Amino acid sequence: MKAIDNLFKIANTINNTAKAFEDHTHNLKKKIEELAFLNKIERVIFLTSDLTLLSNLVLHIALRILKAKSGLLILINSDSHELQINSIIGYDSEEIKVKKTISTKNTIPGWVIKKKEPVLVYNIDTDIRFQNIERLEYEKGSFVYIPLIVKNEIIGLLWFGNKISNNVFSVNELISLNVLSNEAASAIKHIQLYTESEKSYLSIIQGLALAIDARDPHTHGHSTQVAHFAKLISIELGLSQNKIDDIYNASLLHDLGKVGISDEILKKKANLSEEEDRLIKMHPVIAKQILSPIKSLEDIIPYIYHHHEWYNGTGYPDGLSGEKIPLGARIIAVADSFSAMISRRPRFHHNKTLSSKEALMELKKGKSMQFDPKIVKTFEQIVKEDKI
Ligand SMILES: [Fe+2]
Repeated sequence: MKAIDNLFKIANTINNTAKAFEDHTHNLKKKIEELAFLNKIERVIFLTSDLTLLSNLVLHIALRILKAKSGLLILINSDSHELQINSIIGYDSEEIKVKKTISTKNTIPGWVIKKKEPVLVYNIDTDIRFQNIERLEYEKGSFVYIPLIVKNEIIGLLWFGNKISNNVFSVNELISLNVLSNEAASAIKHIQLYTESEKSYLSIIQGLALAIDARDPHTHGHSTQVAHFAKLISIELGLSQNKIDDIYNASLLHDLGKVGISDEILKKKANLSEEEDRLIKMHPVIAKQILSPIKSLEDIIPYIYHHHEWYNGTGYPDGLSGEKIPLGARIIAVADSFSAMISRRPRFHHNKTLSSKEALMELKKGKSMQFDPKIVKTFEQIVKEDKI
């Protein structure tokens, strides 16, 4: 009997060991899968240059790791230094929305920013650390805050709440988010720096465009006027706000390429030689070359590049015709010609300034040849209603 007992005991031990081994292998497998997943994510994070996309991605991954329902990505606004919600998952309320400012005065986010440390709350109602602190709308039950830090500079916070199992968050979970939050912080900073440098490049270029206008007394204020007319046309056509802004900005920069053309040619009163004419027709090409490095301008470059195309296909630089010419470029063409006609331009109309009525007649003459007839009609309406 004793021998049988012993046999049972040994069999049991073997069984338990096998089970433990199986569990261990399973856990290990899970860990490896998780690591491979994180590795993939890391590559994706650094591939995107879209801040909203990146923020949403980070929240989704973190919620998956934490097994939680709600997450916020809050960033410090570099101009106002205020905390602002950048992305939200798992909330659908008026009180918590994108761009909402979060107070740092006597709040947990303020505490995290000061200490540059994560905060794990098991239950906010009983947490003695935060009894005298102002509670934010979403701070309920158990939640975590993780600072986003790059090179010792805090750029924002992650907040997670609403565990799926109604459990509390654990220290281990907080630690497992370490890699992700570090990666996210550097990727966000990278995008912010990139956006900043694009912004300053753009303002330099806008300054340059104004300087070109100022170079010639005849064209002073021309780009701003073209932008104004183009905006009126875009509004009348019922375009989206985004499109209106794009067309306005493109108009401001439409003659930027003239920066590469000498004063002698630009200010010449007599007729241009063939070579001079060829050079001046290069200005849309030069503008495209200057603006191409700015990624955020990729949508408006075609408007600038094609603003001298003719509706009948005889314009330059590509000889596009009809609807093949981008709408923004067709609008600028009308606004540009009108502005040129009502101001004194040496080589136009024998140095004569036309009245709005006369200029409109000229535009109508050019309908279907040089200009898109729909846009001329729209502009005619604007002028008639005295909106310019
Ligand atoms: Fe032009």
